[in-house]
Amino acid sequence: MMRTRPLKVALLGCGVVGSEVARIMTTHADDLAARIGAPVELAGVAVRRPDKVRGGVPAELITTDATALVKRGDIDVVIEVIGGIEPARSLITTAFEHGASVVSANKALLAQDGATLHSAAIENGQDLYYEAAVAGAIPLIRPLRESLAGDKINRVMGIVNGTTNFILDKMDTSGAGYSEALDEATALGYAEADPTADVEGFDAAAKAAILAGIAFHTRVRLDDVYREGMTEVTAADFASAKQMGCTIKLLAICERAADGESVTARVHPAMIPLSHPLASVREAYNAVFVEAEAAGRLMFYGPGAGGSPTASAVLGDVVAVCRNRLNEATGPGESAYTQLPVSPMGDVVTRYHISLDVADKPGVLAQVATVFAEHGVSIDTVRQHGRQDGDGEASLVVVTHRAPDAALSGTVEALRKLDTVRGVASIMRVEGE
Ligand code: NDP
Ligand code: HSE
Repeated sequence: MMRTRPLKVALLGCGVVGSEVARIMTTHADDLAARIGAPVELAGVAVRRPDKVRGGVPAELITTDATALVKRGDIDVVIEVIGGIEPARSLITTAFEHGASVVSANKALLAQDGATLHSAAIENGQDLYYEAAVAGAIPLIRPLRESLAGDKINRVMGIVNGTTNFILDKMDTSGAGYSEALDEATALGYAEADPTADVEGFDAAAKAAILAGIAFHTRVRLDDVYREGMTEVTAADFASAKQMGCTIKLLAICERAADGESVTARVHPAMIPLSHPLASVREAYNAVFVEAEAAGRLMFYGPGAGGSPTASAVLGDVVAVCRNRLNEATGPGESAYTQLPVSPMGDVVTRYHISLDVADKPGVLAQVATVFAEHGVSIDTVRQHGRQDGDGEASLVVVTHRAPDAALSGTVEALRKLDTVRGVASIMRVEGE
């Protein structure tokens, strides 16, 4: 039975994502109503610049007073697609206090202060859904939170930033350097004018915090995530990766420790074998690889950004929240019962590819190997080649077995002190083997 009284939706933000949400809500109104069991009505749209032309959005719905809109009292669902911390956080909590549920795409806010939002939702008996906050259109939050709720997730490893995947893919396939690939990403509209959040890994770190919290039923904040950007990755690193049968990706990795007593979350560039499913994720696509105890290995793949793909995830949440509302129920809220601590990066155990410039003379290899041994880091392979320029230097590439990150840092620090080590050209983790 279709309810005739519409559910009222307030849209906060009408930019890249919000404008597509408004368009799909209007053009697919009948289908959405049939799926929900009641019509949904766009009751107001809050923006910063009221005079901007917004095709398809009736002018009378536009307001610059977002606070008044969420306080109206007759709003069922607030969609927050403004972004950033404030005023988004205050608007969301005010919406809960005034009886509305919230759908948000705001990874920065959820990663920094998700606990406040979840608490406000629970206190006010409302839903907080945020499928679009991680990997755009890819259904990921709900599969982790609901479909895999009966399983035990041990690892989540993904490419969750499209801009950096585009840049790294260009560097890999065309041999371009970082700056050249970034320029192309900017020209094609993938990278923003200020690409810092993407290339320095902040965007991926926020997503890693959200994924780790859901996967391990604990609270993980942005500050808990170890982060390295990808601006230092060079064409030489790609050449080295190729020699090992690998490529380089910016990965978000969330892991449960082997003893199950803690978790880690990190974002950094890493070499992965070409045979790994994540290696074939090209251009600006995202993909997330999940390892669960009973389910085994699962991969989620698709567009991780863009107005229309992200609006798809937002509207999926709107339908779910509206259905809950008609049933006078709420969906699953935050699950943080394990209260597992987040361990520092030093505790992460993985493999490393270290490229050194060394003096090309007897005994150097033995000296270097001794430093690794003294720090308990076991060497898997060593590759050395002398330079053609005859400067008495050689390039030495060491690939280690699995070792704690702290042990590797100690090793590198000691290597830098050797007279025969002229420089540490690069250190890269090797994942996915
Ligand atoms: P945009 O910058 O394109 O749009 C932001 C919108 O918010 C604009 O309409 C702007 O108004 C409005 N706005 C800004 N400040 C206020 C304010 N104080 N009061 C009312 N309205 C305000 O952002 P996006 O659409 O790209 O991103 C929105 C959210 O979605 C962010 O959290 C982002 O992280 C997330 N997201 C975005 C993706 C993407 O591909 N773009 C992918 C996944 C998630 P005006 O139009 O007048 O300037
Ligand atoms: N800047 C992000 C990306 C948008 O490149 O993936 C989605 O969060």
